[in-house]
Amino acid sequence: MLKTTFLDYTYANPLMNASGVHCMTMEELDQLVDSKAGALITKSATMAARAGNPEPRYSDVPLGSINSMGLPNHGIDYYLDYALNYQKNQQAPLFFSVAGTSVQENLQLLQKIQESEFNGITELNLSCPNVPGKPQVAYDFPLTEEILTKVFSFFTKPLGVKLPPYFDMAHFDQMAAILNKFPLVYVNSINSIGNGLYIDEQSDEVVIRPKGGFGGIGGEYVKPTALANVRGFYTRLNPEIKIIGTGGILTGQDAYEHLLCGATMLQIGTQLHKEGPAIFERINNELEEIMKKKGYQTIDEFRGKLKTID
Ligand code: SIN
Repeated sequence: MLKTTFLDYTYANPLMNASGVHCMTMEELDQLVDSKAGALITKSATMAARAGNPEPRYSDVPLGSINSMGLPNHGIDYYLDYALNYQKNQQAPLFFSVAGTSVQENLQLLQKIQESEFNGITELNLSCPNVPGKPQVAYDFPLTEEILTKVFSFFTKPLGVKLPPYFDMAHFDQMAAILNKFPLVYVNSINSIGNGLYIDEQSDEVVIRPKGGFGGIGGEYVKPTALANVRGFYTRLNPEIKIIGTGGILTGQDAYEHLLCGATMLQIGTQLHKEGPAIFERINNELEEIMKKKGYQTIDEFRGKLKTID
């Protein structure tokens, strides 16, 4: 019932982890393989391993989470080793995330993937809000276009981009016009809402150490913004560019709403961090229940069919 075709492969369901959650180590990635997630993605890799920002740097809060991880990861070689081994044993293509902290590093990362035997799907993360002194790339429209132009001069494997949330119709128009110039296979909306602040009411203190407590917000707080971004890009992008919907998925109803807005795959971050990989079975069951109640046999029957008021 939940089968989802993405590029040339049909996954058992559309659910995945969001990059950054439960995917830093090979052990965590293996737990996702063994879960009821349809697909999985690795932690955004940089060329060299990074320790990331000082702890505490992630906090679960009542309506979601705040994080300023700062791209801690084991470096691209670690994840490429995992990916090459994974693809010997698994048919479902792996999603592989990279996030350079400069234009040059992004190109180096993608060059390395291009030259490797990796045959899955690559995600270029243009939206990390947590590296001090490095603004979120995809809020700089000319820079985004410059990077994609350079990338597609040599990169021929399937590539998607992870975007930050946008909040203005003009920005949806401008970013979509840029993205439509390139043979991207998907857009992933949204990364966390960057640079929020959460205050503990007992201690009057922030809850994470980096950047004076500023960090990316996820979870229930972000669902309306995530849905707007999924819808905003679904209605503006070339149909060849699929949408991965990320942000505020806690229940089958949230997953259903992302699909209604046009998402093909769905990623879960904050709530996966709270519940662990058992969440995928729960959300799959809840989504199936909703589909049965509404009389749908397949997701394709309602994907993108959000109703608006005349
Ligand atoms: C981080 O490592 O800081 C989170 C990654 C991201 O938000 O892209």
